[in-house]
Amino acid sequence: MAGRLEGKIAHITGGGSGLGDAIARLFSSEGARVVVSDLKMEAAQRVADFIVRQGGDAIALSGDVSSRAECESLVAETVKQMGGIDVLVNSAGVTPRYAPPEWDFEQTWDWVVSINLKGTMMMSRFAVNQMKKQQTGSIVNLASIIGLVGYAQGISDGFNPYPHTKGGVVQMTRDMSIALAKEGIRVNSLCPGFTYTPLVTTLVEDADMHERLKSLHPMGRLGQPEEIANAALFLASDEASFITGANLPVDGGYTAQ
Ligand SMILES: NC(=O)c1ccc[n+]([C@@H]2O[C@H](COP(=O)([O-])OP(=O)(O)OC[C@H]3O[C@@H](n4cnc5c(N)ncnc54)[C@H](O)[C@@H]3O)[C@@H](O)[C@H]2O)c1
Repeated sequence: MAGRLEGKIAHITGGGSGLGDAIARLFSSEGARVVVSDLKMEAAQRVADFIVRQGGDAIALSGDVSSRAECESLVAETVKQMGGIDVLVNSAGVTPRYAPPEWDFEQTWDWVVSINLKGTMMMSRFAVNQMKKQQTGSIVNLASIIGLVGYAQGISDGFNPYPHTKGGVVQMTRDMSIALAKEGIRVNSLCPGFTYTPLVTTLVEDADMHERLKSLHPMGRLGQPEEIANAALFLASDEASFITGANLPVDGGYTAQ
């Protein structure tokens, strides 16, 4: 039976860890030819090697999505080595919790924005240039529940750049989707609830915070990366052929409250 992404060329940024890793593996198991890119080449290579060992088709690329030149080159290499780009998943992202402690609020804000928001825009910019030539394409952005609802809840002081960037990605998704709808290019985002990946390690290592986070989700638990990957697969595939501009919560009910 043909896979749900049979023969499609999918580029996943931040593919070396967490959600990007799970998405790359699932897409490959559904027949996609996968480009795994990451700031950390070793991490991207590890995921690509796993896919190849499983009989899939994958390459690893290193690239920093906050660099315009590197975004351009990531897309150009994808086209050169794979022959095009049908699906772009923007999963590269950071949280201010992992910013160097000596940085002040402005440096931290600029850093998170340059990756989560500007990086998503720049990767999309270069991918769309190619998708327009193909007159087909699907972009899946990793936004967040925190892009749909406020984050304060005792966790943020209101100046946390993370929700600011995710709100931007939600709006970018809507705006690009309308502009590109007649070009055969769909743009959607996933808005995951808290999900077990290295991004949330420091939060869930704190037992009280872990319980608190679980209780914020009506299902009483956090998500698993595979649960987010399943939704990414749907949005990326032709099964979602009439869906564009959607910001889909995958959140155990968090945003239903
Ligand atoms: N885990 C969650 O709870 C959660 C919830 C909602 C949204 N998200 C979003 O999903 C995406 C993936 O998060 P994750 O949980 O898998 O995190 P993660 O930390 O496990 O993976 C993120 C990956 O992005 C890479 N990266 C960081 N900076 C980069 C850069 N400048 N250029 C290229 N790659 C870079 C990292 O090396 C890492 O491999 C992020 O955008 C995150 O904000 C995560």
